Amino acid sequence: MNGPEVKAVLSKVDTEQYATPSNVWRLRTDAWEYLGYAAKQLPGMADAANGARTVEKGLKEEVGRQLRFLEAVETYWAVPGKAHVLELRTRLREGDYAAALTMIETVTRGFARFRHELDDKLVEPDPHAEALDAAGLAIADRRPRFEVLVVDDVSATVREEFIAEMTGQRRETDAFIYQVNVVPSLEDALIAVLLNPTIQACIVRPGFTVPARQRPSDDLRRYLDGVVDPGVASQTPRQRILTMADKLKKLRPELDLYLVADVSIEDLAGAANRRFARLFRREESMELHLSLLAGVAARYQTPFFDAVQQHSRKPAAVFHALPISRGGSVVNSRWIKDMGEFYGMNLLHAETSATSGGLDSLLDPRSTIRDAQVLAARAFGARRSYFVTNGTSTANKIVHQSILAPGDVVIADRNCHKSHHYALMLAGAQVAYVDAYPLNEYSFYGAVPLKALKGMLLDYRRAGRLDEVKMITLTNCTFDGIVYDVERVMAECLAIKPDLVFLWDEAWFAFAGFHPIYRRRTAMAAAAALEESFRDPEYAARAEAQRASLFDPVTGEPADDEVWLATRLLPDPRIARLRVYATQSTHKTLTALRQGSMIHVYDQDFSHLNEVTFKAAYMTHTSTSPNYQILASLDIGRRQAVLEGYELVQRQAYLAQSVAQAVARHPLLKKYFRVLSTCDLIPAEYRQTDRPMPLRDGIAAMDEAWRTDEFVMDPSRLTLHIGNTGVDGDTFKHQYLMDLHGIQVNKTSRNTVLFMTNIGTSRSAVAYLIDVLVKLAEHFDAEREDMSPAALGARKARVAELVSSPPPLPDFSRFAQRFRSGEDTVDGDLRTAYFTTYKTEKCGYLMPRELADRVRAGEEIVSAGFVTPYPPGFPILVPGQVVTEEILSFMEALDTREIHGFDAALGYRIINEEPDPALGV
Ligand SMILES: Cc1ncc(COP(=O)(O)O)c(C=O)c1O
Repeated sequence: MNGPEVKAVLSKVDTEQYATPSNVWRLRTDAWEYLGYAAKQLPGMADAANGARTVEKGLKEEVGRQLRFLEAVETYWAVPGKAHVLELRTRLREGDYAAALTMIETVTRGFARFRHELDDKLVEPDPHAEALDAAGLAIADRRPRFEVLVVDDVSATVREEFIAEMTGQRRETDAFIYQVNVVPSLEDALIAVLLNPTIQACIVRPGFTVPARQRPSDDLRRYLDGVVDPGVASQTPRQRILTMADKLKKLRPELDLYLVADVSIEDLAGAANRRFARLFRREESMELHLSLLAGVAARYQTPFFDAVQQHSRKPAAVFHALPISRGGSVVNSRWIKDMGEFYGMNLLHAETSATSGGLDSLLDPRSTIRDAQVLAARAFGARRSYFVTNGTSTANKIVHQSILAPGDVVIADRNCHKSHHYALMLAGAQVAYVDAYPLNEYSFYGAVPLKALKGMLLDYRRAGRLDEVKMITLTNCTFDGIVYDVERVMAECLAIKPDLVFLWDEAWFAFAGFHPIYRRRTAMAAAAALEESFRDPEYAARAEAQRASLFDPVTGEPADDEVWLATRLLPDPRIARLRVYATQSTHKTLTALRQGSMIHVYDQDFSHLNEVTFKAAYMTHTSTSPNYQILASLDIGRRQAVLEGYELVQRQAYLAQSVAQAVARHPLLKKYFRVLSTCDLIPAEYRQTDRPMPLRDGIAAMDEAWRTDEFVMDPSRLTLHIGNTGVDGDTFKHQYLMDLHGIQVNKTSRNTVLFMTNIGTSRSAVAYLIDVLVKLAEHFDAEREDMSPAALGARKARVAELVSSPPPLPDFSRFAQRFRSGEDTVDGDLRTAYFTTYKTEKCGYLMPRELADRVRAGEEIVSAGFVTPYPPGFPILVPGQVVTEEILSFMEALDTREIHGFDAALGYRIINEEPDPALGV
């Protein structure tokens, strides 16, 4: 960015909103860049004629503003830190612009160094070498760096002494380098770990105070008010230390916490041991130094990736299958040498199999894969984690098969990924579909309301079949970014059925565990939170009181369903079991090779109820030749997530919001595009807050919505409404975004396109997207100007069609009676219906017109297969489902090219007769 561009961006920044955790990373680098620009301009202006004086004045005012901003935020960074800003201010005031520029460039080059951007571009001798050294940023040192936060209210002298003491422990042989910063209070510590993602460890000393020393931004103030109970100030020093540890861990569980105290460490041991990695006496600074390094090393380690690297370096002669191993079939080939050139020899050297020895086996992990999975479990807050090499499609099948026996009832979102439907068919489960709320205007679904889930469970209770209901499976978050209140859903459902198992499909949500607000709505964090609540006597008392109002004291009969539906139910902690599974496509939202997924388990009954069946299901679906590069990438992806996940997730959400703001503000973009807000995608009945884009209003606003609303939107996803362009989503994706501009998007609907940012999205990619949207808007404008009146009329008609509501999305109709197990419950036997279709004489085809006529005439026609139009991508019909008029009119109005399971030449495949009982389960 050049100076004026920087200024244009900065001028939009509302200073009162500075330093919110989501934007501080950008404001901070922009501010340093701006100062660099100003320091180069100012010397020339000193001698300039009067005309330039006003420009100089404006520039100086802006410099003053940026310095004030940096002074505030650098308090929370060790490098360059507040002292550097104060000294820079002095240089600028004295007009020593050359010295100021050196100080600024030290910082901007230091940032680049931190990101390893300079690794290949170092110049010798480095003009900033001395200054960088002084700042602890020796440029040639390529060791990874991090910051350590010390929390203690001490004088400047003591602070400097402590920093010098820790710096004095550095060795050449240390694997990492860290810098130390000191803040005085609990609130300052929370602000520091929120704003500064490079902090990897905190040292707590008992002398800290509670309130923030400097006034935080309004947003942070509001957020802290929700996090820090005013009662903390009157706690005993011991309680306060524990509170500090709990609050820090809530925000950033990956941080290593250390307690350094002069006296009474022994008193603190016990409670403190659980929260702190280690307790130290003041004089043990070498031990502390080694622990800080060891703490980060523990997260940095990648046992399986390391093993793969070592294996690839070992000389070996290959006398088993796998000709590609060690490049054998490639380097000696006359025809496929380019494979080695393109992928590199490391890949070929790394290719191996467990049976050839040397590396751990995924099917029976005992060393490096087991260790990598243990580290993954710790990182994702699970009790156990399992690597899966064939995507979440397979992960889902493993979990379903591990839990469900034929005949067990599963409550499943009809709109869930097809892998669930296939898994349920394979498992022979009785499937009770529930419908997500529809977003008819945009032709896709939201998520399943809690009331519908509770209602379904109550139906089974009324029918006397609640014991058959084994599991609920839901997608969190949905493809379009709608996120459940996972904790509440599980709590209320467990209040009705205390041993219910939950499978949360988090194919799109692996990143969420690394941001404090997102994390609360992940399956693993929600399970941990519920486990904590279940241990709380006060919670148990509330649950007991509630039960007294829900059951008749004499007969023990439950109150009316209406009462249960209207009450926020609390499970009985004495009998509720937490049996929670999450499947994540690590490859979709974190760093991993395609198909790299994980299953995370938080199942209190795993070892005595499910471990054996889980292992059998894992064997059923896992290849005996799993790809080791995928496994190694999962290990690396986990390392990245625990060391820089927080920073990257914050950035991805912020970047998406910046696109939304650009679209909302730009006059031409506004004409054709609209980013759908929370209010568009989540009906008011599911929200208590009413902000269209909570994160845009700050972290406190996001926190409030994510605490209270039944559904929230993942702010890193943008659904762009494009109806006004007159182009449908699919054409827009292929012809306009991909073919013309090389922009890839994943999902479209009739009149929307979904854009997602991810942890790899850069500011320049976002700028490019905005630029492309502007070009497309210009194109649509120009196209209109050239149109004949007739063509313009046709375009207007197309726009009207795209912005109007099509026939409503049809709910799941019902399974045909012969596949159902009861009149009062909705579950159907997907498997029997599916295998009926293997008998071709029992099936036939009907063209849509004839099918519609027969359905209209009242005939019950049953689908033989899954029929899934893309978009929207959910099965509009499943085997055994009754075809209805609504379904057919929806299909008729769809202008989707791709409909899986429907043959345009033959029509719909249907089941003609009663099923053959021999084919049943
Ligand atoms: C909700 C959901 N679950 C599971 C999957 C399957 O994941 P994978 O591609 O990792 O097999 C997808 C894929 O898009 C999905 O959207």
